[in-house]
Amino acid sequence: MERGGWTEADLEAMPFTLLIKSVSVSLIEHTRAVTRTAYEIAKAMNEAYAGKLSVNLDVLLAGAILHDVGKLFEYERKGGAFVKSREGELLRHPVSGAAFAYKYGLPQEVIHVIAAHSKEGDGGRRTVEAVIVNHADFVNFDVFK
Ligand SMILES: [Fe+2]
Repeated sequence: MERGGWTEADLEAMPFTLLIKSVSVSLIEHTRAVTRTAYEIAKAMNEAYAGKLSVNLDVLLAGAILHDVGKLFEYERKGGAFVKSREGELLRHPVSGAAFAYKYGLPQEVIHVIAAHSKEGDGGRRTVEAVIVNHADFVNFDVFK
């Protein structure tokens, strides 16, 4: 918030995406829903695949909470409306979010979840935690499209 120059009121009003016109879901609601969705998927998979697959819940939750942190740099407010910032045009939120997390020394596994949660991660391999956050993010996006 400090780095993007946002207030708490801005954050409450900030839409989770600029790609869906007049969407009523805020970035905070979206982040909570994605985190919760990812957590429930991870719990189900840890149970179903006990001994065969292990989802690291610390990495998963940190990555889910922070996956869209770069949106705080991707947006700016113009006449009350949220629009894409110059920074957002240059660096999409997975990139700026990963750079921000890197700056503060977050674990590489968490930075990976942020960097790979969107289409930017499609070309490479994702960790189990990044696969889950990617899908949790898209299920929470597609239903509002
Ligand atoms: Fe998201």
